Amino acid sequence: MPVERAQESCSLDDYLAMPDHTMDGRIAAARARLGKDALILGHHYQRDEVVRFADFTGDSYKLSKIASEASSRYILFCGVHFMAESADILAQPHQQVVLPDLNAGCSMADMADISQVEECWSKLTSAGLNNAASGGLLPLTYMNSTASIKAFCGERGGLVCTSSNAKAAFDWAFARARRILFLPDQHLGRNTAHALGISLSETVVWDPYQINGGLTPDRLRSARVILWKGHCSVHQRFLPEHADQVRAKYPGIQVIVHPECRLEVCQKADAIGSTEGLIKIIEEAPEGSMFAVGTEIHLVNRLGKRFAPLGKKVITLDDSGCLCTTMFRISPQHLAWALENMIEGRVVNRICVSDDVKHWARVALGRMLEIHG
Ligand code: 13P
Ligand code: SF4
Repeated sequence: MPVERAQESCSLDDYLAMPDHTMDGRIAAARARLGKDALILGHHYQRDEVVRFADFTGDSYKLSKIASEASSRYILFCGVHFMAESADILAQPHQQVVLPDLNAGCSMADMADISQVEECWSKLTSAGLNNAASGGLLPLTYMNSTASIKAFCGERGGLVCTSSNAKAAFDWAFARARRILFLPDQHLGRNTAHALGISLSETVVWDPYQINGGLTPDRLRSARVILWKGHCSVHQRFLPEHADQVRAKYPGIQVIVHPECRLEVCQKADAIGSTEGLIKIIEEAPEGSMFAVGTEIHLVNRLGKRFAPLGKKVITLDDSGCLCTTMFRISPQHLAWALENMIEGRVVNRICVSDDVKHWARVALGRMLEIHG
């Protein structure tokens, strides 16, 4: 009996020494025993061996919404740290959120530290950007950021967005202020500003490692959007020439990409979407369609397998290994370990955002949930 065996040994190292396939029965048995007490959420970039156990899969927005409406005692987040933090911020007091491997971070979220953001804000304020006479400034953060940055935005009248609602969030902010400080993904920020008709000359990049962000006061004053100098190392690998190459090789193929890709790549694409949005585009396409997808490889491979029997071809835009190594850290062993400990009443790897941060971060996330519906 898998669950009884877990009672003999609860060390994570014991689990990690076991092969992936031996975890399936244990995860299924533990999951069944926990019943309604546990909800497993799986981001689309998770590996097959993990995501198959998710009660719900989705993009960051969809999963945060499901987490905000969940009633289970435990929410197991198979994703990365900022997603589990967001679930904890939105959770009810009786709920506990678990990230099966605490090393599952996000390199983009790590590119903006709260002390750097506070310094940037005070410099922007001293430059006169944050006052009524200059039309005001609002901070807007991508979901891929720490809870303290979300709280920073909430406290200053700003909000959170994901890749599926960035345009609506920009509109919301521009209805209230002339300028936006967008954290931490310069590409999503630039792509969104561009789609709203804001020219590149009205967009600047704040480099936290340079004095005054590397920007002159004049350059700052000319900006409508101040982008933080952050990026996703997975999506930044896609280049415009990949679109040209794949089109030459497969005439008629559609290039669809995630908005964390560079502007030059997005401009070459037939469509841009969040992970959930990309899936929907393929689902709705007629038989015989071909897609080159610019996003994380686990999702692309899964879509390739899912749609091949339906007569749709799905390949990666660039096959040089666009793998999110931190998403990959969540293994079936970690999931089994977390679930079996839960059965024993031990909550391992709990993600717990402090109450002071939670308050304003919830305000910022709440604004996003309100505008998105
Ligand atoms: P989605 O919200 O589109 O799933 O994106 C999350 C993410 O981290 C993409 O790199
Ligand atoms: Fe972060 Fe990029 Fe991984 Fe998404 S794909 S979780 S942005 S490192």
